[in-house]
Amino acid sequence: MIVVVAALKGGVGKTTTSVYLAALAAQGRRAATLVDADAQASAAEWLDGADDDTFERVTVVEAPTERLLAKALGGIGRDDVAIVDTPPGHERLLAKALESADAVVVPTRVGGVETPRVEAVLEMVPRKVPVGLVICSARTYTRDYQDMIAGWTEADVSVWGSVPERVAIAAGPEAWLSVDGLDAYRGVWRRALRAARES
Ligand SMILES: Nc1ncnc2c1ncn2[C@@H]1O[C@H](COP(=O)(O)OP(=O)(O)OP(=O)(O)O)[C@@H](O)[C@H]1O
Ligand SMILES: [Mg+2]
Repeated sequence: MIVVVAALKGGVGKTTTSVYLAALAAQGRRAATLVDADAQASAAEWLDGADDDTFERVTVVEAPTERLLAKALGGIGRDDVAIVDTPPGHERLLAKALESADAVVVPTRVGGVETPRVEAVLEMVPRKVPVGLVICSARTYTRDYQDMIAGWTEADVSVWGSVPERVAIAAGPEAWLSVDGLDAYRGVWRRALRAARES
């Protein structure tokens, strides 16, 4: 099963989302692979430097070109699970990843310019592939957040979860995985798995 973390915009939370989902995937029964399609390799570096035991069960594959990505995804077994982190602003590589996706998680944030960028990604997702948003670094008590959720609900776009803004999550590779982060991403992970199974 291949879950693609997809956004064209930079700095929305793709890598953070990919790493947390890979950690949760590794807690399941199946072999977990994190495919890093970003030449910056921030997800790969995070896992390489991490102390968390969870990551010992995650295989990291760096695949920053279409050829390497196709090869990496072709090597994922039917019963295994892969999370794909994607680079910002690289439409062709993202399209390549989406071709193999069983579920797509689109990280986004609350804010004015976000909606059209998310819509552009949603349009790229092949028909019948389930897709859900995750609102990253969310201030769930704000009016803007509530309005955004209401907007997506009205547009019939699934929101698979919201991850609160936390210092421990912002610390990234410099800290242990945040308990709040794992809790929030667990909900996203369950919904992605269920959606992939039902599609
Ligand atoms: N829930 C959160 N709370 C606080 N900070 C967060 C949260 N999620 C992500 N961040 C921070 O937001 C920044 C961008 O996140 P991240 O690197 O995951 O985004 P990205 O989409 O992968 O960026 P890029 O496009 O550069 O690859 C990072 O500094 C990260 O630590
Ligand atoms: Mg990134």
